[in-house]
Amino acid sequence: MLNETIAIHVNKTESSRLSSVDFDNLPFGKVFSDHMLEMDYKDGKWQTPVIKTFGALNLHPATSAIHYGQSIFEGMKANRTENGEIVLFRPDMNAKRFAESCERMCMPVLPEEIFVELVRKLVEVDKDWVPMKEGYSLYIRPFMFATDDFIGIKPSDTYKFLIFTCPVGMYYAEPVNVKIEEYYTRASHGGVGRAKTAGNYAASLFPARKGQQEGFHQLVWTDGVEHKYIEESGTMNIVFVINGKLITPSEDSDTILRGITKRSVVEIAQKWGVEVEERKVTVEEVITAIKDGSLQEAFGAGTAATIAPIAKIGYRGEVLELPAVETRELSNRIKNYMTDLKLGRETDELKWCLKV
Ligand code: PLP
Ligand code: COI
Repeated sequence: MLNETIAIHVNKTESSRLSSVDFDNLPFGKVFSDHMLEMDYKDGKWQTPVIKTFGALNLHPATSAIHYGQSIFEGMKANRTENGEIVLFRPDMNAKRFAESCERMCMPVLPEEIFVELVRKLVEVDKDWVPMKEGYSLYIRPFMFATDDFIGIKPSDTYKFLIFTCPVGMYYAEPVNVKIEEYYTRASHGGVGRAKTAGNYAASLFPARKGQQEGFHQLVWTDGVEHKYIEESGTMNIVFVINGKLITPSEDSDTILRGITKRSVVEIAQKWGVEVEERKVTVEEVITAIKDGSLQEAFGAGTAATIAPIAKIGYRGEVLELPAVETRELSNRIKNYMTDLKLGRETDELKWCLKV
């Protein structure tokens, strides 16, 4: 374990790539900032973290994470407020979820306050990479993986924790079309669906590609037992507005990732006096509500995707059109509120933004 005061070695790069980046045209996840943070775990303790020039890792071919997937990550964002400050959105929640993923994957738990401090420090070093333009952010990717060079199956004794950052634009450039998946599953009870672990994303690729071949951006996952209940969609949690109520699958199920954006949406809606139901949501009730016109809004919520309106839902060969995005009062209001909060236009009453 690290001491209370974290000694971080900072070796700044001698040749910044900043001037070569077109900040008006940022794709998602392809541009990487100048520095990364790296911290090893060995002999039962965390070693001194180092911030250094972003670059390739040198790994042993038997590195156990590559073979057996003991690997976890987080996704979070920093924004530049209108008066030039840089803020992290609810980093304590990412720290907590990361610690929970560590537990589930038999990895050493990184103390939450250290996680936040390491993220904060790296963003501070690369603060010039935080985009100015509205709708753009600095995406932050903390991750940890097993590094033992051993091909037996057991929890590794050694790990690497790293963070890199990417200035990013939109993840989805348009409202998304999703298909309700009734054969493949993302996660099952007792599995690792709640952990943000690499294998969950690998398992989703094949079914997601099939969905894309049918013209959908993403799948809506249903429960692995009966395919009766809606769980989440792609890399987003899913939220509906039906008859004025905000309805979303509860996270009691250990098959759903506990999303920070979705939690924030729920808390904002409750603050505004909107009726919120977090419970099991059936595919049938959603399809019925689309058909009888009581479904007013549907959207995905996630760090990368932010609030992503769902335009169409595919179900058993039918493609159902949802109400026009401009008519969606609640999700548009929530989206604007969250943007204003991150840009410092709205008072941060709930203390969600941490200044870097
Ligand atoms: N569900 C999955 C599978 C995800 O990958 C993500 C993205 O992080 C989410 C939900 C949304 O979580 P958050 O809002 O914390 O980004
Ligand atoms: C995130 O929103 O941080 C995600 O996990 C999506 C990512 C896979 C791009």
